[in-house]
Amino acid sequence: MGEGVDLPQQATAPRCATVAVIGLGYVGLPTALSLHAAGHTVVGVDVSGRRLADVSELRVDLAPAQRELLVTALGREDFRLSRDPAEVADADAVIICVPTPVDRHHVPDLTALSAACASAVEHARPGQLLVLTSTSYVGTTRDLLVGPLSERGLEADTDVFVAFAPERIDPGNPAHSPDRTPRVVGGAGPRSTQLAASLLAGTAPSIHRVDSPETAEMSKLWENTFRAVNIALANELADACVELTLDPREVVEAAATKPYGFLPFYPGPGVGGHCIPCDPHYLLWQLKALRSAAPLVDSAMSAIAARPGAVVRRAREALAERGVTPAGARVLVLGVAYKPAVADVRESPALEIIDGLSALGADVAYSDPLVPELDRAGAVRRSLAAPEDHDWDLILVHTDHPGTDLSWLSDRPGVLELTHRRPAAAGAA
Ligand SMILES: NC(=O)c1ccc[n+]([C@@H]2O[C@H](COP(=O)([O-])OP(=O)(O)OC[C@H]3O[C@@H](n4cnc5c(N)ncnc54)[C@H](O)[C@@H]3O)[C@@H](O)[C@H]2O)c1
Repeated sequence: MGEGVDLPQQATAPRCATVAVIGLGYVGLPTALSLHAAGHTVVGVDVSGRRLADVSELRVDLAPAQRELLVTALGREDFRLSRDPAEVADADAVIICVPTPVDRHHVPDLTALSAACASAVEHARPGQLLVLTSTSYVGTTRDLLVGPLSERGLEADTDVFVAFAPERIDPGNPAHSPDRTPRVVGGAGPRSTQLAASLLAGTAPSIHRVDSPETAEMSKLWENTFRAVNIALANELADACVELTLDPREVVEAAATKPYGFLPFYPGPGVGGHCIPCDPHYLLWQLKALRSAAPLVDSAMSAIAARPGAVVRRAREALAERGVTPAGARVLVLGVAYKPAVADVRESPALEIIDGLSALGADVAYSDPLVPELDRAGAVRRSLAAPEDHDWDLILVHTDHPGTDLSWLSDRPGVLELTHRRPAAAGAA
């Protein structure tokens, strides 16, 4: 059973510890900046020299507050960047935050995680705290850290301290910045949990302690599985509303006035990013290996994967309704990032939609103020600065970035509003 102890922010965070953060990506960089802002010396270690150069030259996708932290940190001696994995040997604590994607068959790709953990184990020293934060299958912390450390003669919770503390960062959403989001921590033993909770208490409003890394690992998988299933359900609602000529957004908003037992999820063109399209597959993959299953989750993930293809079919129908054949049709995709306020196109449904329409012969352009260039199979497209100045046979509203003026769409024919974030989305897929 989890203790559910909520440590206040300043509780017992050890000040001035040296923390190495392995992996300075979308999640690792904000983590490193939060730890630095909490008073720690931080060494950011990344295998990619290009990423390190981007970080040191501020070419990174960060919320304004975190960008400020980076500007401050870069000028200081207690914030360093390095490609050398041996740097972690000097750290009091090591945070591992490397990617955990799936391959095109939805099988977890543990290459980066295995390498990062092996490197951390190789350089671990007695007394060090190792915290895994990458989302992964249940048992990862024991398989990749606790076991290999023991083989090196370092027993977890005695010689070294090991915990899993999943990241919950919500890129592009200032309402859910790390300093406002409680953190789950599960250690390989009580001392590990305590130390990891103390370290992270300076970066989160509260710490929820659970009794094992496995519970913490499963809690992260479950959070994103919950979202995936509900997004798939919202998409089903949208399809039902097309049949019944209702606006799904209005339906969701009405249902959301119920003060209990309902959480609003909105339909859309699919899911993207590094979490929702990937994380539930870690659970499904593990259950399959155990000859078990989670059919509801499986079905939701299949429906989610099929969503961009359904958008392409809907776009084709919409063109046909206007008497236009897909070959040569002028199609605009508005917004290609996987969600508003981010420049991230990883797993974005827009990519599959653009590829699908291009394969039908359509002449597809896009406009996204946060994504200046898009490389699809070697063909580089550039974002159109003034899409309103052109004629289009079809316009797909894919990502509604805050501050983008889409009022010009109101008198345009052939608009498919895929986001359901704005009223009158009746034409949506
Ligand atoms: N992106 C999100 O919104 C989000 C949210 C919560 C949790 N997560 C989880 O956080 C983890 C990291 O995701 P991300 O989006 O930051 O990934 P990312 O791809 O943005 O960044 C990972 C970084 O790790 C580096 N790296 C890879 N292998 C390395 C190694 N062996 N040693 C050192 N550096 C290495 C890469 O060069 C890259 O800079 C994943 O498990 C992800 O599921 C992501």
